[in-house]
Amino acid sequence: MTAPVPVYLDCDPGVDDTVAIAYLLASPAVELVGVGTVSGNTSAAQAARNTLDLLALAGRDDIPVALGAHDHLDHPFSGGAPHVHGDNGVGGIVLPRSDREVDERTAVELLLDLSRTYAGRLHILAIGPLTNIAHALEADPSLPDRIAEVTVMGGAALSPGNITPVAEANIYNDPQAAAALLDADWDVTLVPLDVTLEHTLSEEQRQQFLADDRPFVVAVGQILDHYFDFYLPSYGARTCALHDPLAAAIAAGGVSPSRALQVPVVVDVSQGPGRGQTIADLRGQRTGPRHHEGVRTRLVLDVDDDAAAHLVATILA
Ligand code: RIB
Ligand code: CA
Repeated sequence: MTAPVPVYLDCDPGVDDTVAIAYLLASPAVELVGVGTVSGNTSAAQAARNTLDLLALAGRDDIPVALGAHDHLDHPFSGGAPHVHGDNGVGGIVLPRSDREVDERTAVELLLDLSRTYAGRLHILAIGPLTNIAHALEADPSLPDRIAEVTVMGGAALSPGNITPVAEANIYNDPQAAAALLDADWDVTLVPLDVTLEHTLSEEQRQQFLADDRPFVVAVGQILDHYFDFYLPSYGARTCALHDPLAAAIAAGGVSPSRALQVPVVVDVSQGPGRGQTIADLRGQRTGPRHHEGVRTRLVLDVDDDAAAHLVATILA
């Protein structure tokens, strides 16, 4: 059994972020060594509150939670997505309030500290807007030298967007930060809507969470209820896309991409209709996968594993 991979999670809980956290806590392949929050689904402060309360419920007050950016690089936080994630970011569920507060470090300071503690081994999993990562790169340009890999839930290659016709929410909320992350000298696995929309959780699986004897797992099931309502019109059934959990499972090696291409991905940082679009150069793929020499971005386009079954089995184990 290889040692678990240390993971720094940058997130905006967020309902699917919550499922990703549950998976990371349950997976033997990873050790969640720190969490930074960023505005996205809700404010960075509310996301931190949610994370503190979730970790307390899970009995994991040992994991530091640091407050990150409220505003994004080129625009202020604009209120989040209550219609998707509920007014409080966790489906409107009122969690028992932990008496723990955020770490005295900012998310950037926590990430830089962890990059030194776990130099060469730390895996960044970013499942919200990428503002904190961009700030960390600006504060310490040598950060990539100490990072094993970066996994990002974000973008849309051939899929339509979800926040605009062409843009996915995490990228749209801070395109300049996404561009900075993709421009840095490290290995990035990008998990876009093309694959995350194809993996969904069923009501039966949500009921399995609700039937668990652990309050934390039950809370995850309750938090998903509002999210299932949101997805009903787009899927025609009570279900939800597994955006962040799928990225977490890929980062942990729990599921493997069946199609992933090392191709250039650039971000539209304009203020026009293309803002936040991730433009992947997929030319020349007709006769089979073609990887671009020297490109360190791996764009995941397919996962054949049953990611939902793996996620549920891991969380319920
Ligand atoms: O577009 C989906 C992404 O945006 C997920 O990370 C979700 O939590 C929201 O942050
Ligand atoms: Ca998220």
